[in-house]
Amino acid sequence: MDREVERTLEALLDERRTFAPPEAFAKAAILNDPSVYTEAERDPDAWWETQAERLDWFVRWERVLEWEPPHHRWFLGGQLNASHNCLDRHLAENADRVAYHWIGEPGEKRSVTYGELHEEVCKLANVLKELGVQKGDRVAIYLPMIPELPAAMLACARIGAAHSVVFGGFSAESLRDRINDAEAKVLITADGGYRRGDVVPLKTNVDEALTATPSIEKVVVVQRTGEDVPMQEGRDLVYSELVANASPDCDAEALDSEHMLYILYTSGTTGKPKGIVHTTGGYLTGVSSTHRSIFDLKPETDVYWCAADIGWVTGHSYIVYGPLANGCTSILYEGAPDYPDKDRWWSIVEEYGVTILYTAPTAIRTFMKWGPDFPRKHDMSSLRLLGSVGEPINPEAWIWYQEFIGGGRTPVVDTWWQTETGAIAISPLPGITTLKPGSATKPYPGVFADVVDESGRGVGPGGGGYLVLKRPLPSMFRTIYGDDQRYRETYFSKFGDDIYFPGDGAKLDDDGYFWLLGRVDDVMNIAGHRISTYEVESALVDHPAVAEAAVVGRRHPQEGEAIAAFVTPKAGREGDEDFAVELRAHVAKVIGKIARPHSIVFTDDLPKTRSGKIMRRLLRDVAEGRALGDVTTLQNAPILDEIRTKANSLQGDES
Ligand code: WT7
Repeated sequence: MDREVERTLEALLDERRTFAPPEAFAKAAILNDPSVYTEAERDPDAWWETQAERLDWFVRWERVLEWEPPHHRWFLGGQLNASHNCLDRHLAENADRVAYHWIGEPGEKRSVTYGELHEEVCKLANVLKELGVQKGDRVAIYLPMIPELPAAMLACARIGAAHSVVFGGFSAESLRDRINDAEAKVLITADGGYRRGDVVPLKTNVDEALTATPSIEKVVVVQRTGEDVPMQEGRDLVYSELVANASPDCDAEALDSEHMLYILYTSGTTGKPKGIVHTTGGYLTGVSSTHRSIFDLKPETDVYWCAADIGWVTGHSYIVYGPLANGCTSILYEGAPDYPDKDRWWSIVEEYGVTILYTAPTAIRTFMKWGPDFPRKHDMSSLRLLGSVGEPINPEAWIWYQEFIGGGRTPVVDTWWQTETGAIAISPLPGITTLKPGSATKPYPGVFADVVDESGRGVGPGGGGYLVLKRPLPSMFRTIYGDDQRYRETYFSKFGDDIYFPGDGAKLDDDGYFWLLGRVDDVMNIAGHRISTYEVESALVDHPAVAEAAVVGRRHPQEGEAIAAFVTPKAGREGDEDFAVELRAHVAKVIGKIARPHSIVFTDDLPKTRSGKIMRRLLRDVAEGRALGDVTTLQNAPILDEIRTKANSLQGDES
């Protein structure tokens, strides 16, 4: 970092600094009266009803909430359709408003209006019906960030089929597991996508995945790159040809409020990803409400950009369902932030006059590393609000973001939530909340969060412990697909079946602000993405020359955590650089590139207890380069020194 920037940051960086909402911002904000909190606390059901009323229902609900712990159902008896709420209801007045300004990585631009998106969705919904997809069926989607991706999701929603979007960075094997778990009937994919100038071979992965996916009947292929890809006769069909011949008339099905909208897989502490199930009415209520209030959304004038990938929940809720339900104009950018240069995002902000930007701390820290000259090249005065999500944001990154991206004017909303909560649960309201850099501040109205100790007792102001939600949210998941027992055990057993345990540690400060401290389980947060240590270990031991492996997360200056692997090769295999390269490629093949270990230390043995349990805690100490914790139960102490010497030689590569 250059000296001048360092000095600016130092001057700004004082964790006790607080930022009250700028007066003009508060005055014009959708929510600026703190009574919204007290009202919602007094009668949460009534508050959520006001939020549900912002949607279009074919049939109004009879009951707001039925809570039979650990299950909860919302807006019972109500009927609606998510695609109708995201499209049809905007047409009378805003058919010509842009839904997405799409920017392809190589430079193409396409602006899609609500009217156009509606037509595309209707046609595609008819195509799906012709292919035999019925209400209740599952459709897998494996696409790059192109307008066909939200269109595919909404086409499913329109006919009551659940989509299961698989992030384009996942491998063939990951795609196959997800297809099989959901028993998807149809897959919508593309010939490829662009990433940092390269073509991501989606269709090749698909062909590999589909060698063992008995449920798949048809594959619809979008021609994104135009590369020549093999098409299997009778199975693979060209998207544009199907859509061109389809009727643009397709009524949106009236669906029960609790009808399954989608499944999205996320990592848990075991090897098998969990299919998180979201339903229609509550989810749409939660995402549209939070999107409007937390981003202070003015759909007539704002140009909103959530720079996530739709393959993760952030994209589902805050690129697709929230923004479209609110009828706003969004940016949809296909590619990498440094292609062709490190100012790509800022040139987009300038060109389209982006007013609201929502991204992850890992991206912010990467921009910090690149330095402020890249944003400085562009006029970014249109920005009026910034958001952060995915992991705790360190105060330094928060301040940098506000200063060098937000020009020192914009509030920064740090939003805590998860795939499971579906929508933001802890966050400032920018017209009301006094911000503290590094804190997600307060639970959203209608959310009852607390920090408790091991016995479930509230720790009170100044205390630290486990984050819990004491009352369900409408947007929260309903179960794990096909495994309700795992739903109970993972989330509702630690403190009782009426207390949701998200797996995060937190502390409360004297003002009752929440400070999120990261996961308390064996789940890592790599560049804002959730990956379990167990998944990576399984992928490593899956290699024929690996005897044993242990994986821990280690702090990383840009990515939050880095994956540190400790591997014992089988006899006869040398733990050298070539093997490390091979193992990284192997993990990419089994899970996806995001799960590749950042460092691999080869060792003849791993630190274990006398009963043979690997002591990951000690490996974490080693990986972090700090003094070892309690070693009294360790069986093979000398191995630790050996591992430490090897690990130290790997440390210097990342700052
Ligand atoms: C986990 C959820 C929510 C969309 C992206 C990730 C961590 C998320 C924050 C934040 C501190 C955060 C938590 C959470 N996390 N946002 N603002 N401050 N931690 O979704 O993959 O389901 O991961 O991300 O640890 O449990 P996800």
